[in-house]
Amino acid sequence: MKIAVLPGDGIGTEIVAEAVKVLRALDLKLEMESALVGGAAYEAHGHPLPESTLKLAKEADAILFGAVGDWKYDKLDRPLRPEQAILGLRKHLGLFANFRPAICYEQLTHASSLKPELVAGLDILIIRELTGDIYFGQPRGRRTAVDGHFPGADEAFDTMRYSRPEIERIARVAFEAARKRNKKVTSVDKANVLETFQFWKDVVTDVHKDYQDVELEHMYVDNAAMQLVKKPKAFDVIVTGNMFGDILSDEASMLTGSIGMLPSASLNSSNQGLYEPSHGSAPDIAGKGVANPLATILSAAMMLRFSLNQEAAAQRIEAAVQKVLAQGLRTPDIYSEGTTKVGTAQMGDAVVKALAA
Ligand code: NAD
Ligand code: IPM
Ligand code: MN
Repeated sequence: MKIAVLPGDGIGTEIVAEAVKVLRALDLKLEMESALVGGAAYEAHGHPLPESTLKLAKEADAILFGAVGDWKYDKLDRPLRPEQAILGLRKHLGLFANFRPAICYEQLTHASSLKPELVAGLDILIIRELTGDIYFGQPRGRRTAVDGHFPGADEAFDTMRYSRPEIERIARVAFEAARKRNKKVTSVDKANVLETFQFWKDVVTDVHKDYQDVELEHMYVDNAAMQLVKKPKAFDVIVTGNMFGDILSDEASMLTGSIGMLPSASLNSSNQGLYEPSHGSAPDIAGKGVANPLATILSAAMMLRFSLNQEAAAQRIEAAVQKVLAQGLRTPDIYSEGTTKVGTAQMGDAVVKALAA
């Protein structure tokens, strides 16, 4: 089983090191090869996603990814940003289905941004379409406006678009996932305003005909953002487009205690997958040894489950994570009174130790 390890920038290197530690502690024949990606690759090879890194990723059974990006690129006038690396990987590998499970572990109900009773037992799955929408729609660019409110002014534009097959396949992923859970899908759109999302709603409704055992509900994204903090347990599977999914998953992470708890899996149609935490490179805490590695460690568990056919090993990691939380170990982002503050490496070490026990 070949794993491409792409730590990236900022806390990416710190958290991936802990996930690798955990993977090595399992008794599995895993071949791991690392490569530079993002700003780190930019500095070394002049491109955020060098050919060699892309080749390694394409040939691997699975990819373990950290995060890319740094504030300094906001000021540098470069044709590409480090973020193009993750967008390029998603596009080149066709990773259209992004799973972001928001689970509030029993021990973290007090770390959540919501009252404990609202999040106790919370287990929702956000399924975000990952290779379409305004993220990839063409045309996009800058130009001089010829119409609009200010003809003659500089302007920028992006294109929001979805094709029927793109919506159909992500809707099927969502209905299939819901079948194995609580059989409810909430499709999040902005059908009251956008043509793209009126179409989204129509296509999801069509696909639902094949999944009559699953309940389908449609919700506008603004209401969904509100319902997520009002009554999050009313959701089971949320399916939505690329941009809404990006925003709602960061919001949902705070129900679980921290964005440092939210793993993700991005799959293509042959079940090859890229596994990464849902958060970014966190330049504000990079290099301090305080980042929470659990989202990345839990992403490694998803990798074992989805791409490497190692369900037992996945469960071992998840149980080990629960155990360290039960021991009261907390990185600063999930700290609450009465628990023990630890750093990134200590947390990783504790998970390894819990695996053995
Ligand atoms: P971010 O997710 O990196 O950080 C947001 C906040 O959450 C920060 O305060 C950070 O310290 C905290 N945080 C994030 N992960 C944490 C962890 N594991 N433990 C503890 N705290 C954590 O988002 P941002 O600051 O908006 O973006 C920083 C950079 O990361 C940008 O360049 C952005 O484009 C990039 N980014 C990359 C990815 C990716 O590679 N997939 C995802 C999101 C953001
Ligand atoms: C994420 C990130 C990325 C996204 C960025 C870094 C391109 O925010 O993975 O959630 O917007 O998809
Ligand atoms: Mn995001």
